[in-house]
Amino acid sequence: MKILLIGFMGVGKTTVGQKLAHALGQRFIDLDQAIAAHVGQPIPSFFTQVGEPTFREIEANLLERALEQEDVVISTGGGVIETPSCVTLLNRADVYTIWLDSEFSTVADHLLATDEIRPLALQHSLASFFTLWQERQTKYARTANLMVTTDFKTPAEICDEIVRHT
Ligand code: S3P
Repeated sequence: MKILLIGFMGVGKTTVGQKLAHALGQRFIDLDQAIAAHVGQPIPSFFTQVGEPTFREIEANLLERALEQEDVVISTGGGVIETPSCVTLLNRADVYTIWLDSEFSTVADHLLATDEIRPLALQHSLASFFTLWQERQTKYARTANLMVTTDFKTPAEICDEIVRHT
């Protein structure tokens, strides 16, 4: 089974993805880590240096490559639903796409509490970041086979909930 985790920055896709892959005995790929390894640079500096369109192109190519694997859980970056070629991959019949959904306040609290840098968060005011979150909610909803809310749940609880659905 090919499982893709989608959702906004800071919802916990990587942590849940690792746990889920372990629970299902599948391989785990974190797309952001794959991109960083491919370009030889951390995502924040690379994203800022080359700009979003180039980043999205590489993201789409590496997502396609990751989907060549069988029995894999792939955590994606929050903007994967912004690129039509990625959306086509997410909608493939052999791909089960799970949307991890958090309230905006949960996302904002998490992003403020972490040291990890998200270039898109830095480029936006809180109001325009909220608008981005709202616009993406529609895109995640349109693409997902399953939606799991994450607010007030531990990664282990989210993982168990997904396993019950697969
Ligand atoms: C992005 C999310 C990031 C990373 C890049 C762009 C986005 O991944 O891919 O900074 O557009 O939402 P996370 O969702 O893991 O933070």
